[in-house]
Amino acid sequence: MLGRLNHVAIAVPDLAAASAVYRDALGATLGEPQALPEHGVTVLFIDTGNTKIELLEPLGEGSPIAAFLEKNPAGGMHHICYEVDDIIAARDRLKASGARVLGDGNPRIGAHGKPVLFLHPKDFFGTLVELEQV
Ligand code: CO
Repeated sequence: MLGRLNHVAIAVPDLAAASAVYRDALGATLGEPQALPEHGVTVLFIDTGNTKIELLEPLGEGSPIAAFLEKNPAGGMHHICYEVDDIIAARDRLKASGARVLGDGNPRIGAHGKPVLFLHPKDFFGTLVELEQV
């Protein structure tokens, strides 16, 4: 069921400043910032060849990453995203194993235009896990 690591997401207070650090200090090639108002974030992807880094900046009122940045004002690792072939089968298997799916339990369309789900960090050793159907 568990597929490739699709991305590691880092919440940042200032996307322009953070992406400049990745470009100038690390020599990263930056994607374009994408505003996703329905998710309350602006995202920017950096392709590292074997996976991607997703920089996340809050967008609008009640952003789902606002509380995280209050606790981690300089930014921090927010979630990791694994690929799955069949997100409904993955969800049902996880629920049967006792894992909690966030929200209403139904996949939403994520930053890549593909269905995603988030799993409760307390069920995965303090790490928020995103599943993306590829
Ligand atoms: Co993500």
